[in-house]
Amino acid sequence: MNTYTFANLKGGSGSTTSAVSVAEALIQEGKSVLVVDLDPQGSLSRWVASRSGSSTALLSGDFDAVEIESVEQGNDARGTFDVVTANRSLAQVDNVRAAKVAKRIERLWDSSSGYDHGLIDPPPSVGALVLGALMASDGALAPVEAGPGAMDGLKDTMQLLNRTGATPLIGAFACRVDVRTTLDTQVPDGLLDELGAVDDGGTSFRTFVREAIAMREAQTAGELPGSYDPDMTAVADYRDLTSELLTLNKS
Ligand SMILES: Nc1ncnc2c1ncn2[C@@H]1O[C@H](COP(=O)(O)OP(=O)(O)O)[C@@H](O)[C@H]1O
Ligand SMILES: [Mg+2]
Repeated sequence: MNTYTFANLKGGSGSTTSAVSVAEALIQEGKSVLVVDLDPQGSLSRWVASRSGSSTALLSGDFDAVEIESVEQGNDARGTFDVVTANRSLAQVDNVRAAKVAKRIERLWDSSSGYDHGLIDPPPSVGALVLGALMASDGALAPVEAGPGAMDGLKDTMQLLNRTGATPLIGAFACRVDVRTTLDTQVPDGLLDELGAVDDGGTSFRTFVREAIAMREAQTAGELPGSYDPDMTAVADYRDLTSELLTLNKS
């Protein structure tokens, strides 16, 4: 099982969108995927769990009496992935030690051996949840929202990874790139220049994700992006990004 945490300490970078979209691209590649929502805001849960079937406790026990709800999105139905959902009570977990969070997630991975991939969508703030998620992952994937100040959140995230040694950065990628805007298109180029391409031993993906109005609509409708609009530019981009990621696993 390959496990990744989407991480950018700047909120609104595209972590949740990326977790949902990469999960969808992975299942379309025939992979089985478990997505863990670790954000007390529960935006990923609200997005995808409304279409879920039965509710089971994938995480049995609790984090110091904090229940983590979980939802199984119908293993039998194709085109779905399983989600461990989050709610506000998770906020209390941010006060426990990161190592404890990591242990809990590792136990979840151990009991989820049937999955090819585990993806975590943590909150954007520094705390036990994000640190624990990183510690329990094989690597971090860092979405970078194109636009002014794009690099700031990434720098903070990379510093956290370096300082704590929690997990390596697998790769950064630009999100919400408006290809009509020079400033936006400079972001993916800048990432490649500064970090080097992942297939060259660096930490920038070659793929960037374009801004697509339909992405917000898919979220509002509670649908997976590719089933909401299979022709969405961002869906094609996330498919390419996922191919890059899968190629890395093979090498
Ligand atoms: N490719 C995209 N095209 C258009 N809007 C996007 C795209 N990616 C993300 N967004 C929007 O940007 C906002 C922040 O994205 P989100 O994934 O929630 O970030 P985070 O989880 O890092 O806070 C959301 O409103 C989301 O719909
Ligand atoms: Mg989010």
